[in-house]
Amino acid sequence: MKRQTFLRTGLATLSIAAMAAMSACAGSDSSGSEGGGSGSETITIGFSQVGAESGWRAANTKDIQDTLTEENGFKLSFSDAQQKQENQIQALRSYIAQGVDVLAFSPVVETGWDAVLQEAKSANIPVILTDRAVDTTDDTLFASFIGSDFIEEGQRAGDWVVENLDKDLKVVELQGTTGSAPAIDRKEGFGKAIEGTDIEIIDSQTGDFTRAGGKQVMEGFLNSHDDIDLVFAHNDDMGLGAIEAIEAAGKKPGEDIKIVTIDAVKDGMQALVDGKINYIVECNPLLGEDLAEIAKKVVAGESVEKRIVVEDAAFSQDEAAEVLADRTY
Ligand code: AHR
Repeated sequence: MKRQTFLRTGLATLSIAAMAAMSACAGSDSSGSEGGGSGSETITIGFSQVGAESGWRAANTKDIQDTLTEENGFKLSFSDAQQKQENQIQALRSYIAQGVDVLAFSPVVETGWDAVLQEAKSANIPVILTDRAVDTTDDTLFASFIGSDFIEEGQRAGDWVVENLDKDLKVVELQGTTGSAPAIDRKEGFGKAIEGTDIEIIDSQTGDFTRAGGKQVMEGFLNSHDDIDLVFAHNDDMGLGAIEAIEAAGKKPGEDIKIVTIDAVKDGMQALVDGKINYIVECNPLLGEDLAEIAKKVVAGESVEKRIVVEDAAFSQDEAAEVLADRTY
C-alpha cells in the first residue's frame, strides 16, 4: 500500500545518536513513562499537527494516530495547531516540559523555529519533522525529516501542462498557506517547468489549502479575468473549491477551464474521474510507519537518515479511474 523510496542523503551524526540516547534517559526520568531506551519499553511522543485544513491532512492524522499506538510501543500525545504557528510552539514547549522521549511535528510555516528547537536540543529531546521542512541554518536541531519532495510535485504538475495542453495558456495559481514549505516549493517547481514557454501565471493568491479558501479566491479570479485557461491549485481541496466557483460562473471545469492539482485524495480523484480536474500529482500522506521506525531508532541511540523522501505517483483521468475504487483516503 505504502510506496516509498528512502533516499539516504546523509547519515545522522554521532552527536544526534548521542543526544537521542540521552533523551531516552531524560524521557524516562521526567515523563513517568517506562523510558524509551529499549525496544520493548513505551516511547512517549508529542506530535503537533498543522490542523485539519484538508482531506490530505485528515488522512495524515489518521495514519499517525493509527500507527503510533500503545500496541506498537508508543504513548502518543497529539495536538492540532489550527494552522497557527504560535499554537505549535506552545504545544512543543508543553511536550518539552513533560519530558517526552521524542518530539514530532509538521511545521505550519518554514521559518521561526530555531528558538523552540534549541530548547528541545537543550532538553536532549530529539525532533522528527514530518511532511514539511523548517528553514534553519542549524541542521543539528532536528534528527530527521520525513516527507515528499514538494518542488518535484510542482514540477511534475507543470511538466504535464507543458506536454499535454496548449502552448499558450493563461494560468491562475491557488497557493497553499503563505510561508509553508509546500506553497513555496510547489510554486517554484511549477515555475521551473513553464520557464521559457508561453504559459503565463496571470494571478496567484493563497487559498490556505482549504476548499472554502479555494472557492473564494477563484471567485475573485473569475471576476478579474475573463481569459483564464488553467487553474494550478497547490492541493485538491482548493481545486475542489475552484470547481464550485467555476460552475457557479456558468463554465465547465476541466473543459472551459482546465485544472491541475496536488494530493490525490479520494474527493480529488473522483473529480478527476468525473472530468472536472485534468491531472493530479500525488502527495503521499501515509507517514506514520516511517515516523514510528525513526522514533524507535533515535530513542535507541541508533543513527537515522537525515532526509527520507516519500515517493509520490501522478494520475491522468484514465489512470485515476483504474485506482479510484481501491483508494483508502
Ligand atoms: O503539507 C502537505 C499539504 O498540506 C497538502 O498538500 C495539503 O493538502 C495540506 O494541507
